[in-house]
Amino acid sequence: MKAAIVGASGYSGLELIRLLLNHPNINIDTIVSPSNAEVKVDQVFPHLTDIVTTKFDSLDCQKLASHVDVVFFATPAGVSSEYIPTLINLGVLCIDLSGDFRLKGEGLYEEWYKHSSPPKEMLEKAVYGLPEFYREEISTATLIANPGCYPTATLLGILPIIKEKWGDPSSLIIDGKSGLSGAGRKTNQITHFSEGNENISAYKLGKHQHIPEIEEVLSDQSDKEIQVSFSTHLIPLTRGMMCSMYIDLTEEKTSLEVIEHYSSYYKKHPFIRIMPEGKWPTTKGVAGSNYCDIGISVDSRTNRLTVISVIDNLMKGAAGQAVQNMNLRFGFPERTGLELSPIFP
Ligand SMILES: NC(=O)c1ccc[n+]([C@@H]2O[C@H](COP(=O)([O-])OP(=O)(O)OC[C@H]3O[C@@H](n4cnc5c(N)ncnc54)[C@H](OP(=O)(O)O)[C@@H]3O)[C@@H](O)[C@H]2O)c1
Repeated sequence: MKAAIVGASGYSGLELIRLLLNHPNINIDTIVSPSNAEVKVDQVFPHLTDIVTTKFDSLDCQKLASHVDVVFFATPAGVSSEYIPTLINLGVLCIDLSGDFRLKGEGLYEEWYKHSSPPKEMLEKAVYGLPEFYREEISTATLIANPGCYPTATLLGILPIIKEKWGDPSSLIIDGKSGLSGAGRKTNQITHFSEGNENISAYKLGKHQHIPEIEEVLSDQSDKEIQVSFSTHLIPLTRGMMCSMYIDLTEEKTSLEVIEHYSSYYKKHPFIRIMPEGKWPTTKGVAGSNYCDIGISVDSRTNRLTVISVIDNLMKGAAGQAVQNMNLRFGFPERTGLELSPIFP
């Protein structure tokens, strides 16, 4: 199979290059970056010297469709929806790492992303690419909307309790923390070393574009309208994301009972690891890997559950999950190209 990566000069695209270079069933055919077209990849990324010997291309849908099987878009909001309709109509599988095709609700995308909505018929084709909950749909999709990084960590951490109706959704509070690579390769004031290093800052409180995505999936999976309180923070890490979630239990449960429920729910899902009682996940424990580690604790005094979910934002939060989705879609074993152990310490 041949793949193209659009947005390959950015962090998620670069992570896709790293993964697909080691994927036994995929050849990277085209690496697109409009601002670097015709420049050798190793001139932009010297660490790829002798590893990637080709040049960046510009984006030409007709050319891509004539010889690639899958196109990954790792581009900012508003870009993929310009090209994906053409590619889909030409019969190419598209996996979009941006938010363009994630929100189904009318007007939601425009409201939260401040771009025009993608064509309705394309939105209807888009399948939400969270394999642990939409596996069947992914296996036949023509367009996969890869989830955002915060929604991935949040939904994997909280859905088993919401689906089982053990928690009161109206009490749910999500406290998210992300490393700086979550903001992409271009620097801005908040990610500037002098301001990002040795600092923790809250941002976009109540206004983050991942809020409607989390709410839509929670509602879809529980057949009930759910709204969440979601706050986001930048922390001085390159990679890594932690979502700490707090929810009131609707009946008395012990930590062990909840841990057993999660372990059973995720038994067949190779990238979810449930921590034993009294152990907590760390961002370093998943760095560079496609794992999501989940720690669980019930406070019996308040009957409140705390769930801690960690991922590498560039892996399970972006490129790793995109490759997992491609594997499911093409019928490759789910772990293919993703059997990377975390980089620890
Ligand atoms: N970073 C994360 O942790 C993460 C996690 C999950 C999802 N995402 C999503 O993935 C997408 C990419 O994020 P990122 O952090 O990798 O961004 P990034 O580092 O800023 O890279 C953006 C890439 O998009 C390309 N691009 C920009 N405008 C384009 C256009 N009009 N046509 C074609 N290519 C264009 C850029 O190419 P040039 O250099 O040529 O401009 C660059 O390669 C975003 O939608 C983001 O929300 C990111």
